[in-house]
Amino acid sequence: MDESIGHLPIDHIVILTGAGISAESGIKTFRDHNGLWENHPIEKVASPQGFVENPELVQNFYNLRRLQLKDVEPNKAHQAIADFQKDSKSKVTIITQNVDDLHERAGSENIIHIHGELRKIRHLETGEIKYFEGKIEKYNQSLWRPHIVWFGEQILNSYEIREALNSATLFLSIGTSGQVYPAAGFVNQLHSLGIPCIELNQEKTSDLFEHSFLGDATASVPTFFSQLRHQ
Ligand code: OAD
Repeated sequence: MDESIGHLPIDHIVILTGAGISAESGIKTFRDHNGLWENHPIEKVASPQGFVENPELVQNFYNLRRLQLKDVEPNKAHQAIADFQKDSKSKVTIITQNVDDLHERAGSENIIHIHGELRKIRHLETGEIKYFEGKIEKYNQSLWRPHIVWFGEQILNSYEIREALNSATLFLSIGTSGQVYPAAGFVNQLHSLGIPCIELNQEKTSDLFEHSFLGDATASVPTFFSQLRHQ
């Protein structure tokens, strides 16, 4: 990262993360070449209709993603955020579109999962949510579903998200293509309020970001937070 970040208001940093931050841990993104949506049609594996039509296919898709979490670890980008959270006086809120638990395992706190969590399942009748690391087997696939937001469903934790955005002094967007709303609209909202917005990604996704630091998250995120500590 050659560009200096200047002096940024860091009282409350709101960080939006997407699949790109977990890519170097070995979890596939959705829209990159060979991404998840290229090989698994969204409407079949990530919609309520798809679940009704073929529950086994949908459960297997998420069973595999859930089991994969046992083989992956947080990377330097997750770690840099968690370390900054521990050491800094700033309030840091992470709003993640990711359904993995790599922010948690890196030691981060104050994490809002907007699209659900692979390691939680939800009872279809009672709505009970419980922690779960295994496979939903065929015999109970009509009772439990992944605690994941499918297309057409409401995002989770919208009150907490609104609260966080209302008090943000700096907005960072890391590893997201900005294709899925409402998360894709956070930059519009905050930019229009004059809040500095910065992205760290492999590609530039919007002109509304004051800086776009392009490159791999495991390189750019630790460098960025190191600069923030010394600003
Ligand atoms: P995408 O797959 O749409 O975008 C991933 C972004 O990360 C792209 O902009 C890549 O350029 C970037 N990227 C890839 N590897 C990277 C790396 N090593 N370092 C930095 N950036 C990298 O994923 P999301 O934006 O997270 O929703 O997708 C948003 C939502 O769409 C997901 O939460 C999911 C999906 O449909 C649901 O399933 C509800």
